Parts: sequence; structure tokens; C-alpha cells
Amino acid sequence: MRVNKMSPIPMLYHAHHSQAADDLPFWLDWARRKGGPILELGCGSGRVLLPLAEEGRSVFGLDRDANMLEFLRMRIPDGSRERVSLIRGDLRRYHLARHFPLILMPCNTYSTIEPVDRRIALNRARCHLASRGNLIVSTPNPAILAELPEEGEAENEAFFFHPETGNPVQVSSQWQRASEGILFYWRYDQLLPDGRVEREMISVFHYVRGVDDTFYDFEEAGLKVALTFGDYDGAPYETDSPHLIIVATPIFRAIP
Ligand SMILES: C[S@@+](CC[C@H](N)C(=O)[O-])C[C@H]1O[C@@H](n2cnc3c(N)ncnc32)[C@H](O)[C@@H]1O
Repeated sequence: MRVNKMSPIPMLYHAHHSQAADDLPFWLDWARRKGGPILELGCGSGRVLLPLAEEGRSVFGLDRDANMLEFLRMRIPDGSRERVSLIRGDLRRYHLARHFPLILMPCNTYSTIEPVDRRIALNRARCHLASRGNLIVSTPNPAILAELPEEGEAENEAFFFHPETGNPVQVSSQWQRASEGILFYWRYDQLLPDGRVEREMISVFHYVRGVDDTFYDFEEAGLKVALTFGDYDGAPYETDSPHLIIVATPIFRAIP
């Protein structure tokens, strides 16, 4: 008999990233302003999607990773189930027959999209926006990424107890620069009771594209950059901000 064992990665990702939930009030606040339904592109483990559903929003989550979606699906509380729709798909190629007042791309998903694919992804999102809708994208500040040295030292970045085994898990991260961007690694070292260490790794490539080029991509995809923030407390974007958060609206061109 073949037993499908679930990948441990979604659980480790979720336990790690749920610790730094400083962005959640920002997304919840925009959801209160715009109402639903809400589409999250790259919804992952549901770190943002499920709190939105628990606040009563109708949410659609799109992700290409079946393991992430399965992990998310198992965590939907009974009271939110009817408000959550999950779609396995690619954010560059999908068609949902509806328009959304709010489309979100939290947690740096945007900077993992290859520059040649960004306008395609933005255009897809625009086609799914309601006329007064907003697409909100959060990325690491490209100006900071561009200044990172060639290679980062391995750093202990977080610690948590494994959600299933209760064993301690040490998270360390490191990066390496490449010509088009930066490769980030996360190592999840679980300390087993017999003293052995079980390691899981995640690596993610973030493409670096300048701020002006980033705005240009939005324009070319028919989106107006209406607001920018440098952090989730609503601070304005500066070159030394930790994030570049873009709030965009669809541009409607008059037919001549
Ligand atoms: C950094 S995680 C963010 C998860 C979640 N939004 C959060 O805030 O915790 C990025 C997610 O985007 C998904 N993703 C990346 N590229 C994608 C693509 N082209 N189409 C669909 N999903 C994608 C990944 O599978 C992953 O689950």
C-alpha cells in the first residue's frame, strides 16, 4: 500500500512565519475598508487568508503548491469553511469568472516572480479587479536588496517548538548574490530526543528590479500606483524602508 506522507515544509514555513505576523493588521485593515470577496495570490499556508476568513471575509486563495494548499485546507476552522475557496494554479495564468475589490500578494511573493513574467502576472490581477478595486503587493525593498553584500553569514533567525513533535527547531538563514537577484536559504534544524538533528531546507530566489522599473511594470500592465508604503504601520516608502508596499488601481483608458 502506498502511503502519501505530507511534506513537512508547509508546517515549518507556517510555524516560522506566523511568529512575525506584523503584517496581519495591515491586511485585515484593508479588507475592512474594501470588503470582499478577496483574492490572495500565493496564499501559501493560509497565514493571511485564514485570519481574513475568520473576520467574516469571503476569500479565494490561489497557489501552485499542492502541499501548501493541502496544509491550508486541513487548518480551515469549521466556522470559516464556507467562506474559503482554494484554487491550485499559477498566478501568471488563471481565469476566475469574477472581479474582486481587493487582491493581495503578501510576504514577498512578488519578488520571486521573474521580471519577464511580472507584467503578465500584474495584467492577470488587473483583469480580476473590480473597477474601484485595489491590488496590494508587498516586496522586500529593492533598494536594500541591491545593497546586500555578495554573501550573508548564516544567522540564527528564529526558534520554535515543532508543532507535531514538540522538539525544538532552530531556524537559520543565509543568502548568496547572483547576477539577477539573491538566493535565500532557510535551514530548519529539529533537535531529536536522541541528540540527532533533522534538517529541512527551503531556498527562494528573489529577483532584484529597481523601484522605478517596478512602477513601470505596473503602468505597462494597466495599473496605476496609487499609494506606496515602506512598512506595515503605514510609514511612507523611503529608500531605507524594510519593504516596498504598492497599492494599485486599474487604469481605464477611454476608447477613442
Ligand atoms: C512566501 S510564500 C507567501 C505565503 C502567504 N501569502 C503568506 O503571506 O504567508 C509564497 C507563496 O507563493 C506561491 N507561489 C510562488 N509563485 C507562484 C506562482 N507563479 N503561482 C502561484 N503561486 C505561487 C508559493 O507556492 C508560496 O506558497
